[in-house]
Amino acid sequence: MSAEPKSALEALKTELLTAVGEATDLAALEEVRVSALGKKGRITGLMADMRSLSPEERKERGQSMNALKDEVGAALDARKADLHKAALAARLEAERIDVTLPVRPEREGRVHPITQTIDELTAIFADMGFSVAEGPDIEDDFHNFTALNFPPGHPARDMHDTFYLPDRPSDGSRMLLRTHTSPVQVRSLLADKAPIRVIIPGRTYRSDYDMTHTPMFHQVEGLVVDEKTSMANLRGCLIEFCRAFFDVDDLPLRFRPSFFPFTEPSAEVDIGCLRRGGELKIGNFGDWLEILGCGMVHPNVLENCGIDSTKYQGFAFGMGIERIAMLKYGIPDLRTFFEADLRWLKHYGFVPLDVPSLAQGLNR
Ligand code: PHE
Repeated sequence: MSAEPKSALEALKTELLTAVGEATDLAALEEVRVSALGKKGRITGLMADMRSLSPEERKERGQSMNALKDEVGAALDARKADLHKAALAARLEAERIDVTLPVRPEREGRVHPITQTIDELTAIFADMGFSVAEGPDIEDDFHNFTALNFPPGHPARDMHDTFYLPDRPSDGSRMLLRTHTSPVQVRSLLADKAPIRVIIPGRTYRSDYDMTHTPMFHQVEGLVVDEKTSMANLRGCLIEFCRAFFDVDDLPLRFRPSFFPFTEPSAEVDIGCLRRGGELKIGNFGDWLEILGCGMVHPNVLENCGIDSTKYQGFAFGMGIERIAMLKYGIPDLRTFFEADLRWLKHYGFVPLDVPSLAQGLNR
């Protein structure tokens, strides 16, 4: 008879279980598994041999073979789990680090002033009940211009020196790098409808490069739409923001009439400052400096987003993040923001653990 007698199965079981117990790593254990249960393994071989048995013998033998297979399989699984645990414990031990050691000064990172400024303004607007929305850097003409009430071919589109992507062969339409964060007004209104109260920080792009312009820069957009929203609310909101951000309690703001296709009326806002020689100081000193654009959301924009402009009004504003960061932290040259010079970052950057919050002070 080619199939082994019962005692031989017992012996095989003892042998395999011993081998499992003696495997000291996962590779050795895998070898044991293959030698027992693999395609050419011993248990697999015995199973195949049963073909020569009579039906009764096969039934009985089949049961003991299955029991053997299960027992060896369970032992393999248990040993595998133990070895995994042991490997993890060994690794944790080997990679142990003392987190109470101070950071080596040459390795300490810094938070970039743009990130810091976004964190600060987010803390201020969050305190006023705003949430944060985001949208894609690559936009289409509809969201960046058309829905924002820029008529086709209107010169206002040229104000923006747009970077266009190559035509899309499928439908011939052109995608572009968003020239402002305002397209996210449209996205937010389409997605969440009114009432809404969001700020939208993000990257924006225009084909421009000199002391005060880089092809990529950051803006933060604000959008509030509700049933009773007025220019006075806009004014109050911006005054509160600017005073908190620049930490000047009596900082004056001046609203000058302006034009944007997506707001009516529109205004540009100046804050008080002092210009003396090359120095610039923010505060109530009699000089003025422009920092943002704003206005009441144009009814056409609301209607383009499916919002009833006879029921809802809103205000919006947009501001350059580099600009307010430069003013607050006395950073003279815009282009240095993006040169990735570690010495610059060390000087103008922020300590990572000092997270800005209104309760603790925005910048300690
Ligand atoms: N999107 C305008 C710009 O980039 C700024 C703005 C935003 C003006 C919202 C009014 C309202 O210049």
